Amino acid sequence: MQLTHALVRRPTSNFAAGLTTANLGSPDYTLALAQHQAYCTALRQAGLQVIEWEGDAQYPDSCFVEDTVVLTPHMAIITRPGAASRRGETLAIANYFAAFRQIVHIEAPGTLDGGDVLQVGHTFFIGLSERTNEAGARQLAELVQREGFHTRLVPVHGVLHLKTGLTAIDTRHFVGTSWFAEQLPDLEVFVPPQEEWYAANSLPINDWLLVPSGFPSVRNFVTRLGKKTIEVPMSEFQKMDGGLTCLSLRW
Ligand code: GLY
Repeated sequence: MQLTHALVRRPTSNFAAGLTTANLGSPDYTLALAQHQAYCTALRQAGLQVIEWEGDAQYPDSCFVEDTVVLTPHMAIITRPGAASRRGETLAIANYFAAFRQIVHIEAPGTLDGGDVLQVGHTFFIGLSERTNEAGARQLAELVQREGFHTRLVPVHGVLHLKTGLTAIDTRHFVGTSWFAEQLPDLEVFVPPQEEWYAANSLPINDWLLVPSGFPSVRNFVTRLGKKTIEVPMSEFQKMDGGLTCLSLRW
């Protein structure tokens, strides 16, 4: 699917107050803004028109915009984030997509974060994680099946979201942690050395793959597959459990 647009939200000055389990120290806000600009530049290099919004300081995690909605050709499926502190992030997103998608909602008791949803061709892999429960996953599965997609539920372990630990380079090749390689034995999953598992979250856009800077085995693997890569510095987002995928919505 050729992507044309991305929506991002800049980190707010209280970004460091967001949720994190990373234990990597507090992020430097000025550096986070610079890394966010580098990210937007990479999205443009990959061919996308980038819509840049300010973040919402009521929600210090609001730059992780991908968690708020799952987009299909016809629907904007507004999530119900698993962290209660993030639920209000969805309102602005629903208002925006109402102009060009049918708006549907994940309903309580379901919870779902967009970071747990990986679309590969006609299949949606849906992670069951600390943020996405079975009720939320089943609601999403039912909705996307109406549009003809297949679904697979995947238990998430050792990382925040499904996409934190699994990337589809294309419809045949994946990069992931050993957990996901074991859960999905029918897929070809390249498992990098453990110290490079952060790069199991990389971002395919059209002919490009955005990879976090400083993870050579992942970059070398995808280069061997013939993919063009763009390195993006991500240290300040890594400190807040964020990755390349959750910083934007693409369509
Ligand atoms: N800091 C991103 C999240 O925990 O949702």
